[in-house]
Amino acid sequence: MARPMTAGTAAADVLDGIPIVPVIVLDDAAHGPDLAAALSAGGIRTAEITLRTDAGLAAIGRISAAFPDFVVGAGTVLTASDVDRAVDAGARYVVSPGWDDEVIARAADRGVVALPGVATATELQRAAKSGLDRVKFFPAEQAGGLPMIEALRGPFPAVRFLPSGGVTAANAAAYLASPAVFAVSGSWMASRKAIAAGDWTGIARASADAIASIPV
Ligand code: 3PG
Repeated sequence: MARPMTAGTAAADVLDGIPIVPVIVLDDAAHGPDLAAALSAGGIRTAEITLRTDAGLAAIGRISAAFPDFVVGAGTVLTASDVDRAVDAGARYVVSPGWDDEVIARAADRGVVALPGVATATELQRAAKSGLDRVKFFPAEQAGGLPMIEALRGPFPAVRFLPSGGVTAANAAAYLASPAVFAVSGSWMASRKAIAAGDWTGIARASADAIASIPV
């Protein structure tokens, strides 16, 4: 039987009013607070810190300690134990590239938002059955972009999407103009290279440009 979920409802709280979710890969946890400060200076108040590097988890901890109002999430969350490690470090939402029942269940148990990646109607049906009303659409550009979101929306009008993968300064506004999209996600304003180089000014500027491009 499908497990009743609270994560979809929780998503409405923690991510409400957040239109852009930077996807972060960093190699040095000490960069976390500087990165959060640069994103904030540009008007972005969240970051999905991926667990792709060893530094990810520690960076989540450092950012949450330094900036309690900054909404830190964890990305590339693949297992229930990843959920635990991320939440223990301070993550307030968890993002996955695909669907995993144990990740969804553990996120609900821990009271944090789960954003599983979906790219097909089958996965979306699973999300709807589980009570999730917000999902990541991944990899967005490769999986059909906005036309695919609009097509998937037909049978699932209540579900809203976070497109991620190939979203850039050039197409973010088009995604955000769709009522099916609650936020866009990507690395274009804070690349791994820019973070490693400590280019906080460039990251703040690209973040401000991203916020300025949001359709009103
Ligand atoms: C990812 O998984 O890395 C995200 O979807 C971001 O993709 P991007 O680097 O194409 O923005």
